Amino acid sequence: MEMQDRTVVVTGGASGIGKATAFLLAREGALVFVGDVDETGGRAVAAEAAGEGLAIEFLPLDLTQTATIAEFAATVHRRAERVDGLVNGAGWDRIQPFLENPPEMWDQLIQINLMGAIRLTRALLPSMVAAQQGKIVNVSSDAGRVGSTGETVYAAAKGGLIAFTKSLARELARYHINVNCVCPGPTDTPLFQRQPDRMREALTRAIPFRRIAQPQEIAEAVMFFLGRRSDYITGQVLSVSGGLLIAAAAPSAAQAPTNQSAEQNVRASQQYENLLCTNPAFRAKRIAQECGPLTDPQLHQSCVASLQCGVTHHRSNRAPPSETIR
Ligand SMILES: NC(=O)c1ccc[n+]([C@@H]2O[C@H](COP(=O)([O-])OP(=O)(O)OC[C@H]3O[C@@H](n4cnc5c(N)ncnc54)[C@H](O)[C@@H]3O)[C@@H](O)[C@H]2O)c1
Repeated sequence: MEMQDRTVVVTGGASGIGKATAFLLAREGALVFVGDVDETGGRAVAAEAAGEGLAIEFLPLDLTQTATIAEFAATVHRRAERVDGLVNGAGWDRIQPFLENPPEMWDQLIQINLMGAIRLTRALLPSMVAAQQGKIVNVSSDAGRVGSTGETVYAAAKGGLIAFTKSLARELARYHINVNCVCPGPTDTPLFQRQPDRMREALTRAIPFRRIAQPQEIAEAVMFFLGRRSDYITGQVLSVSGGLLIAAAAPSAAQAPTNQSAEQNVRASQQYENLLCTNPAFRAKRIAQECGPLTDPQLHQSCVASLQCGVTHHRSNRAPPSETIR
């Protein structure tokens, strides 16, 4: 078994991708410590694992609280001889236009998706450095690679996690510690199911494989970075998203491929503009997509006005349709 005698910490292991990862690792022989703010879910995971004879232990962890991170790390160090792997899998998101985000939501997004991973990594690193070995896998998102409408600060946090991965990989190479990153696309978990139907359908259509991922498929990629097959790989970012990013590079006829000339780009923008002016159904669809999520009447009105035909004097650089990526 690939993970025999290894100890791995998985945050966010009470649900979705983290849970699938914890079970996959335990079935490969690892002792897994799941840390999660959801104590009911975490205990249920541990009980389910015990029923299958798997070694998954649950420890409470709130990544927004520095004190619980320190407590969690200390408990792991007391219970395990060393930590061989860390999966920073916990995450949180809510789709909402940036203009409507309450600032408290930014703090929450950054604390959970970025700072929590940074703090926990720092707390668990000394034992890896002392052992001169270890594998860290950060679960980011394709949103952190290409941006995502309605997930602006989430994407900022996930982009930060990618940059953290790359820099940390450089710093830790001398201790033989690998640091890599997995970027899921839309995945069938409670986090994704909480999004509006319209958004889920649009995302599924945008994926070349025309289906969202199962948590197990993301867990397999995380497992690859924790196992022996990736010993010579560090600082890398792997999208596991059914080809979503290929599509993101050229999602529609209205968006010019990056290798086109500036003149061709302008022509494509003008075609989009013409469509907006001459095709009421297309304009209505754009308004629903772009302005629909705005609940503030004034912002909604400004958004609709921005999609009027010929309102501004220079439109050739109008942005092509935006997309939520996750
Ligand atoms: N599901 C998707 O479509 C998708 C897409 C891209 C990236 N991701 C990322 O994958 C990871 C796993 O997400 P998921 O889809 O399995 O979601 P999920 O909601 O099923 O699981 C996330 C887990 O993180 C835990 N968590 C939230 N806040 C926490 C906190 N403050 N402290 C500790 N734990 C906390 C939750 O309790 C939950 O168990 C996240 O980092 C997410 O951003 C998910």
